[in-house]
This record gives sequence, C-alpha cells and structure tokens, in this order.
Amino acid sequence: MTRKKILVTGGAGFIGGNFVQYMVNKYPHYDIYNLDLLTYAGDLTKHREIENKENYYFVNADIADSDAIITLFKKEKFDYVVHFAAESHVDRSITEPEIFVRTNILGTQVLLDAAKQINVTKFVHISTDEVYGELDFDPTTFFTEETPLQPNSPYSASKASSDLLVRAYHETFGLPVNITRCSNNYGPFHFPEKLIPLTISRVLNEEKVPVYGDGKNIRDWLHVFDHCAAIDLVLHKGANGEVYNVGGHNERTNIEVVKTIIKTLGKSEELIEFVTDRLGHDKRYAIDPSKLERLGWQPIYTFEKGIAQTIDWYLNNKWWWEQIISGEYQNYFKKQYTLENH
Ligand code: NAD
Ligand code: DAU
Repeated sequence: MTRKKILVTGGAGFIGGNFVQYMVNKYPHYDIYNLDLLTYAGDLTKHREIENKENYYFVNADIADSDAIITLFKKEKFDYVVHFAAESHVDRSITEPEIFVRTNILGTQVLLDAAKQINVTKFVHISTDEVYGELDFDPTTFFTEETPLQPNSPYSASKASSDLLVRAYHETFGLPVNITRCSNNYGPFHFPEKLIPLTISRVLNEEKVPVYGDGKNIRDWLHVFDHCAAIDLVLHKGANGEVYNVGGHNERTNIEVVKTIIKTLGKSEELIEFVTDRLGHDKRYAIDPSKLERLGWQPIYTFEKGIAQTIDWYLNNKWWWEQIISGEYQNYFKKQYTLENH
C-alpha cells in the first residue's frame, strides 16, 4: 500500500485528538503529523497510548505563522491536510473575538496557501453547523448543505469566513477541498468548558451546573467516533469542492442533557442552576446528513448509548480532566460565570 503523509491540525484538541488516534491506529501505512500550537485547549497527555508509534509525529506550530507553515509544507510534502485547529468555544468568542479572527480566518488562509504551493491531493476543512445560524423549534426543519450561511456569534462568523476562503481556493486555484459541517460532538477528551463534560465533571464534584436561559435550546449530538468515521470517508471518497453535513439525528434540549447526566450519576437535580442566557444564543441546530449517507456513512451511536459510555469514560479517566480543571481553567470559570451577561 502507498505510504501517505497526513497533516492533522489541532490534533491536540478534542475532535482532532480523537481523529489522530483513529487514523494512527487504523492506517499504520499513513504517517500522521499532528500540528498544534497547544493553546489552553490543546494537551498531549491524551496521546500517551499512541505517542511512541512509528507513524505518529507532533509539530508544535501556529497555523497563522505563514513562514513556519510554508517551510513545513515544503519540507514534508503532505498528501492530505485535515484542518481542525481553531478557537472553538462560543462563549470565549463573545468576550475575546480577536483571537477567533486570527486563528480561524487567517490561520485557514495560511494553510490553504501552503497546501496550494505543494499541490496537496486533498484539503478537508472541518467546519460547523453553526455557520448556518439557528433553526426555530419546528422539528421538521433541518440544515442542508444549501442552507444559506447566517452565522450569529463571532465564533461562527469566523468559521463561516474560513469556509468561504476554502471555497474560494477551490474556485480560483482548483485546490481539491471538502468542507464538513457537523453538529455538536461529545465523547472522550471533550474539554470541560463545553456543556456535556462541564456537567459531568461538576456533578461528580457535587458543584452547581450553570444552564443558560430556560434550558430549552436544542443541540443535535454527534458522537466523536461517528464524526471521525465521517471525516475518514470524506477524505478518501468526497467529491472535490463538495460540502458534507455530519449529524446523527440526536436532538435534545440542554435541560434534557443535563438531567440525563444527573440521573445516570445518581445525583440531585438541585445541582441545576439557571443562569443568565448566552448573548445571541442560537435556539436550535439540527442536521440533515442525507448527502453524507449517500456517500456511505451511517452513525453507530444513539444518544442513549453514547452518553452512557461518555459518562463511564469520565468516571474512569479522572486523571485527564482533573488536571485540566485545575489551574488556569479555574480563573476562566470564575470570570465566565460571574460576568454581567450571565
Ligand atoms: P478544541 O478547542 O478542543 O481544539 C482546538 C485545537 O486547536 C487545540 O488543540 C488548540 O491547541 C489548537 N489550536 C488553536 N489555535 C491554534 C493555532 N493558531 N495553531 C495551531 N493549533 C491551534 O476544538 P474541537 O472542539 O476539537 O473542534 C475542532 C474543530 O471542529 C474546530 O474547527 C471546530 O470549529 C470544529 N467543530 C467542533 C464541534 C464541537 O462540537 N466541538 C462541532 C462542530 C465543529
Ligand atoms: O454545533 C457545533 C458547535 O458545538 C461547535 O461549532 C462548537 O465549536 C462547539 O463548542 C459547540 O457549540 P455550542 O455553543 O453548541 O456548545 P456548548 O457546549 O458551549 O453549549 C451547548 C449548549 O449548552 C448551548 O445551547 C449553550 C448551553 N450551555 C453551555 C454551557 C457551556 C449552558 O446552558 N451552560 C453552559 O455552561
């Protein structure tokens, strides 16, 4: 089999980290390069089971540093790029939008330019359903690939901008690209600032769980392993220039998610604390994944199975998240949840 070099950006984060592990284990004949700046969201301890494998490499770099990126691309001549690296947390984009513009927009443009210079075989850009804006509560409506982009937060606006750059590099320069737009992921190594791991870790520590507004906003949950399989398929089979939505039809209100976790852990709903709503809080996301299903993808996880396994994972892997919720994360938490807007 032909040896390939795959660059994964953001491979020290949640989804990129799961994807790196999936690829290193599934494709021993591919060399997997994990490029990551190691921001607050990046950590390498999650890779202790693969870090000594012969097909795994780590590069500490900033995707917005064009000199470093071009030099690396010219040296390594990657076949494929799978681009996850981003600032990913909506709440942080409301308080610190600049870094989202730099990393998510400029960083993507730098990578596209480098990919163009060495003629990569495929550039897969990992985007989000949030670029489509929000849906109302009519359960028969879904985001399709044709839904207009109407991002509402600085985060989703920066991701939509990066999507448009990816499209433009395809249209202008013929760069072989795909864009994937997935719904909310959950599973192992999910950073505990996001709803599901935040709830699990706080419930386990008998701490209050902040639920924004009335808790009735809806997210469409996708297990990260199903997402990894989808990206693998798009990387190998996606038609050039195409966008693919990824979602498993697992819509839940936030309050349902929080109550499920509390019940599974045998704790009291008195831990729930309704707090001031997120600014510009999108009501509902829901994905129509039929285009990707036609390409050959089917999710394996129902929400019930996935959330039970995820709760078990957090119970069995306290070593990972306890180190993360100490230190600097505590400062973030205090600042975030004592703001006027919460
Ligand atoms: P994450 O925040 O867990 O990880 C992001 C990673 O990118 C971190 O390892 C961080 O160190 C790295 N990074 C940040 N800035 C960088 C820079 N300038 N140069 C190099 N590396 C940098 O994010 P995630 O939740 O794993 O999301 C990954 C991708 O998937 C993002 O593009 C996000 O927009 C998209 N996405 C996420 C979700 C979700 O539910 N988490 C859903 C849809 C789309
Ligand atoms: O839809 C895909 C997006 O999903 C990704 O593009 C983002 O990178 C990812 O962070 C996620 O965005 P959300 O804003 O949907 O995820 P978050 O976990 O921050 O919030 C999920 C829901 O829970 C949302 O309606 C806000 C609510 N929430 C969140 C937090 C952190 C609370 O009620 N309380 C909280 O403390």
